[in-house]
Amino acid sequence: MRCLLSAYLLPLILHACTGADWCYQTQVSCDSHCKGPEKWREVNADCGKDRQSPINIVTKQTKLDERLTPFRFTGYQTVFDGTLKNNGHSVQVSIPVPATISGGNLAEPYKAVQFHLHWGISSGPGSEHTIDGEQYPMELHIVHMKQKYIRIEDALKDPSGVAVLGFFYEVSSTTNRKYDLFAHALRSVQNTNGNTTLRKISLNQLILPEVNMTNYYRYDGSLTTPGCTEAVVWTVFEKPIPLDSEQLQAFSSLKFRDGKPMVGTFRPVQPRNGRVVYRSSGGTLLVSVFLLMASISTAFTITRLN
Ligand SMILES: *[C@@H]1O[C@H](CO)[C@@H](O)[C@H](O)[C@H]1NC(C)=O
Ligand SMILES: *[C@@H]1O[C@H](CO)[C@@H](O)[C@H](O)[C@H]1NC(C)=O
Ligand SMILES: [Zn+2]
Repeated sequence: MRCLLSAYLLPLILHACTGADWCYQTQVSCDSHCKGPEKWREVNADCGKDRQSPINIVTKQTKLDERLTPFRFTGYQTVFDGTLKNNGHSVQVSIPVPATISGGNLAEPYKAVQFHLHWGISSGPGSEHTIDGEQYPMELHIVHMKQKYIRIEDALKDPSGVAVLGFFYEVSSTTNRKYDLFAHALRSVQNTNGNTTLRKISLNQLILPEVNMTNYYRYDGSLTTPGCTEAVVWTVFEKPIPLDSEQLQAFSSLKFRDGKPMVGTFRPVQPRNGRVVYRSSGGTLLVSVFLLMASISTAFTITRLN
């Protein structure tokens, strides 16, 4: 057995041989015994429940909800030094300063805890949520929990204890200068457990001014990695953040625990199971209806002129 190669490697290999670890589909192979997304329910039964994330958002079936007003952000402009860490599944930054979101039909304020990303191979499909079947190259998750909780474990026991803001990325021909330091810092965390300090970043810098914060989708779901806890109020913003292909590529140079390229770090979309996806009144559909009406009335005007 390969697993008995040497005493030095034994602890490391035993770990891999137990097969209890979860992994993404790109990590599943004949000689890795990790459990890919199809088997996550064996890692945690919650992964097989019925309000799982991510989902495909069918815009035609979304329901307009006037209560989905713009968010109120506090601390999103605060500049901080954050620790960027390769945790073996993604890169993550803990947020060391007070930052909150409220409004947007959230029952109470939520505080920001950490952010991380999900991506594909280079600038290929890599987001977790999809819109009308379209998968964007990458997705940012800013994870918040209700302000009254101190530990994330407590928030995860509350069906709406966690609020995640999801932002898509799109390939752009121009470099997004606000991501220069971030993309550069990735070089220092190529290996699992590697960490480095991201200097002078703010949450606003990641998402503004690219995203129109008034246009978003809302539904009840789960964490997208095991335990898959069904405690998440999801907000997915419609407008993607532009990055050039080199900036996107930088994420593919990170490595999983086994040294293979960290790519395809997304969970496939899960059944909606009758859940309703709501859209804010700033949404595109409303704009389309307005444009349609405008063109109809223009057509009428033209007809009458003739
Ligand atoms: C970062 O890495 C150093 C070792 O290089 C380690 O001592 C430290 O605990 C790590 N910090 C985090 C937050 O993982
Ligand atoms: C955001 O979208 C809304 C509705 O589509 C629009 O009225 C508003 O002007 C937009 N804001 C920005 C900053 O683009
Ligand atoms: Zn995530």
